[in-house]
Amino acid sequence: MKIAIAGKGGVGKTTISGTLCRVLGQIGNKVLAIDGDPNPNLSTVLGIDKDATPPPRLSTDIIERVEEGEKSWRFQVKMPFDEILGTYGQNAPDNITLLMVGAPEKAGTGCMCGSHTVVRELIHSALTAENQGIMVVDTEASLEHMKRGTSRHVDKIFTVVEPYYRSLEAASRFAKMARELGIEKVEAIANKVRTKEDEQAIRDYCKKIDLPIAVIIPFDEQVTDADLRGVSVMDYDKDAKVVKALEGFAKELVMN
Ligand SMILES: Nc1ncnc2c1ncn2[C@@H]1O[C@H](COP(=O)(O)OP(=O)(O)OP(=O)(O)O)[C@@H](O)[C@H]1O
Ligand SMILES: [Mg+2]
Repeated sequence: MKIAIAGKGGVGKTTISGTLCRVLGQIGNKVLAIDGDPNPNLSTVLGIDKDATPPPRLSTDIIERVEEGEKSWRFQVKMPFDEILGTYGQNAPDNITLLMVGAPEKAGTGCMCGSHTVVRELIHSALTAENQGIMVVDTEASLEHMKRGTSRHVDKIFTVVEPYYRSLEAASRFAKMARELGIEKVEAIANKVRTKEDEQAIRDYCKKIDLPIAVIIPFDEQVTDADLRGVSVMDYDKDAKVVKALEGFAKELVMN
């Protein structure tokens, strides 16, 4: 199964992606976490030791330009995806492998393409590769990287919303974009919900735009406390409200 987590900046995409990966791993799944953010921080949420030796950084060298005709070409990833994972992947707790694709290094040689192309092609390569486990892609705020026919390989896209209007409006745009890209299953994840009124506002809005809500996640001080200490909320408090909400969600996800 391949899922992507999208949403406006700061809504909680990384917190949710990382904690969901941990929960999925704990219930017996092999998980591949893809960090597509140019400022990667999924590693902390996954609970990777800060002192662990990081894998080599992916660079633009990984891409080659393939000429297709006199004036046309396309880019492609040079290595099979398994090899990429073997070289650039990093182990995280609970049977998770993390691959950071969002901040490729500019190399002197290679395809001379921009980092955007590298991210797009790597996500394409990840999504089209055979994968027996669950792949969770923490996207940046746009769905740009999901273009190039990649989206049909995504089983579900979740757009994270907070209970305020601009975030809800952004979710509506994401949902529209995802559907235009051919992703049929688009659902909302309501995050940082503090009150019944918050929950109702999200429910009302999502109903209006015909967007199902997959899970409601409460605002949780444990997340901010864990963040302050630079640790994963799972390792900080495995009974945190966020963890509990995502446990229920993960079970449903694997059952469907
Ligand atoms: N349920 C929650 N309760 C309380 N705080 C939360 C919750 N979810 C996320 N946060 C906090 O919100 C902030 C943004 O979270 P996060 O980095 O996961 O968002 P993001 O969507 O990945 O952001 P970006 O767009 O910058 O990548 C963090 O400080 C995080 O601790
Ligand atoms: Mg993030």
